[in-house]
Amino acid sequence: MSQEKTFYITTPIYYPSDNLHIGHAYTTVAADAVARFKRATGYNVWFLTGSDEHGQKIERKAKEKGQSPQEYVDKIVSGFKHLWTELEVTYDDFIRTTEERHKKVVQQIFQKLYDQGDIYKASYEGWYCTPCETFWTESRLEDGRVCPDCGRPVELVQEESYFFRMSKYAGTLLQHIENNPEFIQPVSRHNEMVSFIKSGLDDLCVTRTTFDWGIQVPFDTDHVAYVWVDALANYISALGYNTGDDSLYQKFWPADVHLVGKDIVRFHTVIWPIILLALGLPLPQKVVGHGWMLLDSGKMSKSKGNVIYPLELKEKYGLDAVRYYLLREIPFGDDGYYSEEALVHRINQDLANDLGNLFNRTAAMVVKYFDGVLQEPGALQGPDTELINLAQDTPQTLVNYMDNMEVSGAVASVGKLVNRVNKYLEETSPWALAKDPGQKDRLNTVLYNVVECMRQITVMISPFMPEFPQRAWPLLGLENNTELHSWESLVWGKLPGGTKLKKGKPLFPRIDPAALD
Ligand code: MSP
Repeated sequence: MSQEKTFYITTPIYYPSDNLHIGHAYTTVAADAVARFKRATGYNVWFLTGSDEHGQKIERKAKEKGQSPQEYVDKIVSGFKHLWTELEVTYDDFIRTTEERHKKVVQQIFQKLYDQGDIYKASYEGWYCTPCETFWTESRLEDGRVCPDCGRPVELVQEESYFFRMSKYAGTLLQHIENNPEFIQPVSRHNEMVSFIKSGLDDLCVTRTTFDWGIQVPFDTDHVAYVWVDALANYISALGYNTGDDSLYQKFWPADVHLVGKDIVRFHTVIWPIILLALGLPLPQKVVGHGWMLLDSGKMSKSKGNVIYPLELKEKYGLDAVRYYLLREIPFGDDGYYSEEALVHRINQDLANDLGNLFNRTAAMVVKYFDGVLQEPGALQGPDTELINLAQDTPQTLVNYMDNMEVSGAVASVGKLVNRVNKYLEETSPWALAKDPGQKDRLNTVLYNVVECMRQITVMISPFMPEFPQRAWPLLGLENNTELHSWESLVWGKLPGGTKLKKGKPLFPRIDPAALD
């Protein structure tokens, strides 16, 4: 009996803020590309995203707007869902931390940790960064009492709190990280976390009393749960952990990948695994900390007025172009720099010149020479074998990149095949072969090889650019032949002769860079 292959991937759950920008879109679109890719390659995928709605920061913002926190978050979260729909993000579930199904699980976790003595009461006096929702000891603060993560002033907090015995589990966690080098990726973040843990873990303050907007602690109702503990639990509450129906939990936990930005790797590789260790649950397979999308002018922020909104870009350039750019531009683990010039350059170079032009000009040739009907290929010669070998190797290359969450490398490997086909066209010059009746057989072979590559490129690129196939299949005359759209069909020669291609409008029209504002 073959065992079902499952794959559970999560994005961070986002804080409700007025608008998510392209940095946020990057994480979720990258997770979506991985989820689509895994589904295409035969996995039963569970892809979770959501919103992280509690905490002092939200309570304050709602107050500023004269709204109740619930009113405030409801409106923003419906905007999140709209954004993900517009970006064609295929999540399987969207968890909100204000949902009953989540609250119950957080309360059970608190109760269990308390009952087993891992949570104890003490009085907290220390520093808190409200924008980051992070506690800091005096020694970790930067000069001038600012948060070492975001550089903003911290606040002195003095309250009676409950503490979680992180220190008790530090040794076990360190051992796990050192024995499983793939647990934290890339390796730079692994190293950072190892030295962070080695520098000593303090017990964590996990409840607050000075505001109300949080999940009530079951054994002491004056306290609400610290927002990070609340938030991290989403990865199992969404699966129905410890409820009457925990079938999703049984099937998908432990997660295969928590995809997170580099700033929140610490929460996911220290606090979260220690909670799981204390609960006696298995740890996620991998936490992948990706780099950030930055601007020349620094971080995107509303106050600087330099925020780039994904829907504005989609409106202007189309969804596939925006997704392609995001996924291609940030090298694995590193930061990428956004600029509209770079986006337009990618559209003009990679999409219009290389990909789109390949499809449009090849379809036009088949229409011109054979009334659109693709002929059976003849004997192979010259550069054919090299091209076919690359086409046959590319799916596995893609699998390898995607297994390592190297989305940019995966996209680039399809681009490499596109470029090889374009070079092949120059090498074989079908337009010259068409002028010589003695070369008919060769012309058939060349065009067949190119169109078979185009078919395979369309299959491989679809997780990254989900609208592309809808436009490419009709051009290739394959819109109804869904068998040839599948990953299993990536076997050379599956494309039957006799397929009828059509001429079409440019798949990616060039953009005049001079027209940029
Ligand atoms: N609510 C927490 C996550 C809890 S997960 C249990 C949070 N939310 S956030 O909205 O502030 O950030 C969500 C994600 O967006 C983080 O992974 C963060 O790294 C990412 N990004 C925020 N700005 C970004 C860029 N400019 N570029 C890429 N990712 C960015 O943290």
